[in-house]
Amino acid sequence: MNSKYEQKLKQLQDKGRLRDLRPLESEKYHLNLSSNDYLGIGGNQELQQEFYESRSHSALADFELAASSSRLLTGDTHLAHDLENKLAVAYRSEAALLYNSGYHANIGILPALFGKRDLILSDKLNHASIHDGFRLSRAQCKRYNHVDYDQLRTLLIKYRKQYEQVVIVSESVFSMDGDVADIARLVDIKKEFDTLLYIDEAHGAGLYGETGLGKVEATAQLEDVDLLVGTFGKAWASVGAFVCCSGVIRNYLINHSRSLIFTTGLPPITLNWNRFVFEKSLRMNAERQHLQLLSGKLRSALGSLGVAPVNSSNIIPIPKGDDQKALLQATEMQKCGYLILPIRPPAVPEGTARFRLSLCADMQWQDLEELARQLLKQNSESN
Ligand SMILES: Cc1ncc(COP(=O)(O)O)c(C=O)c1O
Repeated sequence: MNSKYEQKLKQLQDKGRLRDLRPLESEKYHLNLSSNDYLGIGGNQELQQEFYESRSHSALADFELAASSSRLLTGDTHLAHDLENKLAVAYRSEAALLYNSGYHANIGILPALFGKRDLILSDKLNHASIHDGFRLSRAQCKRYNHVDYDQLRTLLIKYRKQYEQVVIVSESVFSMDGDVADIARLVDIKKEFDTLLYIDEAHGAGLYGETGLGKVEATAQLEDVDLLVGTFGKAWASVGAFVCCSGVIRNYLINHSRSLIFTTGLPPITLNWNRFVFEKSLRMNAERQHLQLLSGKLRSALGSLGVAPVNSSNIIPIPKGDDQKALLQATEMQKCGYLILPIRPPAVPEGTARFRLSLCADMQWQDLEELARQLLKQNSESN
């Protein structure tokens, strides 16, 4: 058995595409540009201390380490309901439902809600979990070119009438490109064609809008999104995810969403931490502003690299094209103390290997200024 897989691994290695797991040796690097700890919460010792200290005046059950069962059996707690209520109120949604991760949410919601007579229209650069979600569903799926809303309209003109329900699925901030969906336009299209709208805020939640709920809040379209998915695994420095939806849809998902039903619930301590960071993050405007400022400055500094500073997100892709080049150049940057990992297919389309710099609110401009110099130097040497 092994020889077949050994051969396949060798093929990946020859292509510069072999992945492995390595424990993070953070002491080797002075700047981690590959983490999704966008608000700096994961590295904030004071905040973590405050959370643990709250234990003295909270019930011990709120700090338990295991749910020990699916939520549908004995793994449900008041913490989960409390967090769902808080999310629903903040997102001005009728209801919210927790999942164990963004991956669980996307692979659980799409197959539960959309079947044979339905059509899923998905942006071509949507995350793998969305892709896997529609592969698990019995609905038809068509992918429109990245943020090409004219093509999306053309598909709807052609196909809308053939399907009972049509759902448009898009990320708000695209995970590997850092560019942003035009949510207002998607809402207009949804209304024009009477479709549903599903927005994945994995990389927007925590960072945009008056209280940091995400891009949908920033564009004042909260009421117009039928299914809004957010994850605690990025800016909120935890694990878990949620969908904001109607009460009926929540009940339906509880009965039909397999990635929710057939898995152990999140541990109470995680639910408690998620509520804690969510509430803190509503007031973290200073961090959000600092992050936007840093992102804008780095984008301008890198303008000469051909990285189009067309959007304002904190995810900055540096195109490399070739897998081996991305791998070698990332290793060079790591030797200089920058934790940059090469992003290669299948995480991104063929021929578009890249660095994906992700900036966090606990970084300082002095560090990034030096990083920009190093990147520009590397780029000019390799041309
Ligand atoms: C757009 C998008 N959705 C969902 C996920 C999965 O989220 P989680 O890490 O919580 O499983 C990711 C993770 O990278 C993502 O980028």
